[in-house]
Amino acid sequence: MQPIEEIKPQQSIELLKSLHILTRDGKVNQDSRRKLKQVYHLYQFIEPILTEIKEIKEDYLLVDHGAGKSYLGFILYDLFVKLSQGRVIGVEFNQKLIDQSEKLARELKFERLSFLTSDINSSANLIDSPVDIVTALHACDTATDDALHFGLNKKAAYIIVIPCCQAEVASHLKKNKAQSLKMPLAELWRHGIHTREMGSHLTNVLRCLLLESQGYQVTVTELVGWEHSMKNELIIAKRTGDKKGNATERIEKILHEFNLEALKSRFLI
Ligand SMILES: C[S@@+](CC[C@H](N)C(=O)[O-])C[C@H]1O[C@@H](n2cnc3c(N)ncnc32)[C@H](O)[C@@H]1O
Repeated sequence: MQPIEEIKPQQSIELLKSLHILTRDGKVNQDSRRKLKQVYHLYQFIEPILTEIKEIKEDYLLVDHGAGKSYLGFILYDLFVKLSQGRVIGVEFNQKLIDQSEKLARELKFERLSFLTSDINSSANLIDSPVDIVTALHACDTATDDALHFGLNKKAAYIIVIPCCQAEVASHLKKNKAQSLKMPLAELWRHGIHTREMGSHLTNVLRCLLLESQGYQVTVTELVGWEHSMKNELIIAKRTGDKKGNATERIEKILHEFNLEALKSRFLI
């Protein structure tokens, strides 16, 4: 059989079939190609981070929040973690998805890949060990914020998120629109579609400032071309311990100017 361009030599074909990335006769499933592309792109960013962390600590721990079917956890494990002493925990509140992932991990003998049925919010109390890397790929709405708070709580060396649609900030912008429209800048979110876009953009700006206020150096980039996914912003935060001087003040000012003070607990620590 011809080698398939997307499949890397060390990958488990059984895993790719079980994740429906390959069909039973070994061809790439067109519906899954997009997900595979996203995960591979993400892997290009995560691989050097895993290498760096592994050098410092052999039994490192990566926690993947809002794991869903655990594509990311399985592929990271298969490509990198299985060849090291590291561990991966996928956190997900849908028991059915957890059961499927646990079954697959058992079948593939991926012994250091485990799963936790939990709301992200409560998971910090359930994971005792130090956490080195936190990921969240398209964790719905405010679940990304919960993943950030988890990473901050655990003082993770790296926090890597690709946010999903975010509705909370947009709903507050909408609620307070009449009051905001006194200022010309509110034109930026007067129309419904702009409210949604502005809400999403503002959320990610506040997330970056939150990370910077807590001693993280933040890089924001595009995950894959927009043709692959609309939810495409990749935020990589590396813990340096240097808190950005004006970040907290800027969060406060932004929340005030956009009439978003009700969201203080989300973006301020
Ligand atoms: C859009 S899916 C993404 C799944 C996976 N990360 C991926 O990219 O394929 C989001 C997942 O997050 C889970 N989720 C959402 N909010 C959560 C929360 N607060 N705690 C735990 N899981 C959550 C959902 O059940 C869903 O499986």
